Amino acid sequence: MSFCMYIIVKQMHVILVIISVALFQVRYWRIKFLQQETNKLSKVMPHVVDTLLLIAGVSLAWLGGFSPFNSHWLLVKIIAVVAYILLGFIAMRNVGLKQWLAYLLATIIVLYIMSVAHLKTVWPLP
Ligand code: HEM
Repeated sequence: MSFCMYIIVKQMHVILVIISVALFQVRYWRIKFLQQETNKLSKVMPHVVDTLLLIAGVSLAWLGGFSPFNSHWLLVKIIAVVAYILLGFIAMRNVGLKQWLAYLLATIIVLYIMSVAHLKTVWPLP
């Protein structure tokens, strides 16, 4: 039963990851090229999706018995998630080089987070 629950929550987590990354990219490029701050719904949506994503992540860690103390990859992943959130914030609220660098770093970090989660190692490169 709890294994089945784990699989369902993991599927939800991964779907929310895809939606979250897609919303971040769409929002950034819309602001950058259309100088168009998104409407209320598309401003609120990322926060709702990200909150659900984090809840699903914490539930997965709890269900799977992973903790930042017994799994180094999870500790590093949580630090990287905080960095991703902060950089996303900077990318949406700035212009010019600062905005571009924050966007680039956020994109690299989210790819790193996915690799860490998939391979469960803090150095997911050969
Ligand atoms: C930006 C935020 C996050 C992203 C992009 C992300 C990404 C992912 C991905 C892609 C997987 C699936 C890995 C696979 O291929 O098997 C995964 C699994 C997982 N994530 Fe996250 N995650 C995020 C946040 C979190 C948070 C905040 C936690 C916990 C505090 C968490 C805990 C987990 C756990 C425990 C797994 C299951 C590992 C497994 O059983 O294979 N995630 N995450």
